[in-house]
Amino acid sequence: MFPVFQPESPEAQAIYDLFLLVLAISAVIFIIVAGLIAVAIWRGRSRATMPKQDFGSEKREIYWMVGPILVVFWITAISAKLILTVNAFPKFHPQGLDSSEVEADLTVTGHQWWWEVEHNDSGIIEANEIYIPTGKKLRVKLQSADVIHCFWVPQLARKMDVIPGRENYIWLEATKPGTYQGRCAEYCGNQHAWMGFKVYALEPEEFTKWEAGEKVAPGTSTESDAVKGEKLFFAHTCSNCHTVEGTVAQATIGPNLTRIASRKEIGAGVLKNSTENLTLWLKNPQAIKPGCKMPDFKLTEDEASQIAAYLESLD
Ligand code: CUA
Repeated sequence: MFPVFQPESPEAQAIYDLFLLVLAISAVIFIIVAGLIAVAIWRGRSRATMPKQDFGSEKREIYWMVGPILVVFWITAISAKLILTVNAFPKFHPQGLDSSEVEADLTVTGHQWWWEVEHNDSGIIEANEIYIPTGKKLRVKLQSADVIHCFWVPQLARKMDVIPGRENYIWLEATKPGTYQGRCAEYCGNQHAWMGFKVYALEPEEFTKWEAGEKVAPGTSTESDAVKGEKLFFAHTCSNCHTVEGTVAQATIGPNLTRIASRKEIGAGVLKNSTENLTLWLKNPQAIKPGCKMPDFKLTEDEASQIAAYLESLD
């Protein structure tokens, strides 16, 4: 029900354990304080006169200053230790940090309002979906194309801000195969709520299969609607913003569409991926995700459904 309470990676587990520990410490303090207040109320309830007033006790003051300070230092220390284990700090070079030299397995770029994902080894590019093998600790480089976003997969990793002009690193790892919901966790404009993504964790063999499938170039469409749609796609300058590998479309403003048919959702989670929904989206993206960078091209129903047919052939 609450993904934060169902950790599926060592990092998320460590965060959850720390949360429980801090909760327990707070509960003990709460019980002591609330208990003392209750006792004072109970004992003082029937007194008609003021109890004996006593001012200043150096000994007691020292106790209640040193006690809380120790507790706060303890929590700070265990939190700092946790940060060291969950943050994937970049490796440092003798000549200082050169970010181009930092080895990352995945580069994730936050855009208003979608996520671009690059697998650095294979060069595979995804949008709003991250396929990963289980049991492997992946270093993720986070960067932004525009404003501050925040990358968060509650079951797998900590939250990490995605800041323009800066690179942040975290570990992403899943112990069990499954689908994990991710979210942008920093308000970034009017479609912040629709900046979702999913992490699909596959068994290593399955992941290798997925990787091999992604590397095969998509075939040219043969169905008549798709062929018409392909012409319209280029006539309507879709290629000014999008990439479809193996074509002249090589722009990177919008999501890479090379394999859009294999995606389960479109618009960073706003609609399930189907020909009907893609047609709706193409007819007027602004009606579905107001403010998104894709303009309304005033396509007719036929044009939209033909382009949708072309895109659904890209698998
Ligand atoms: Cu991106 Cu909120």
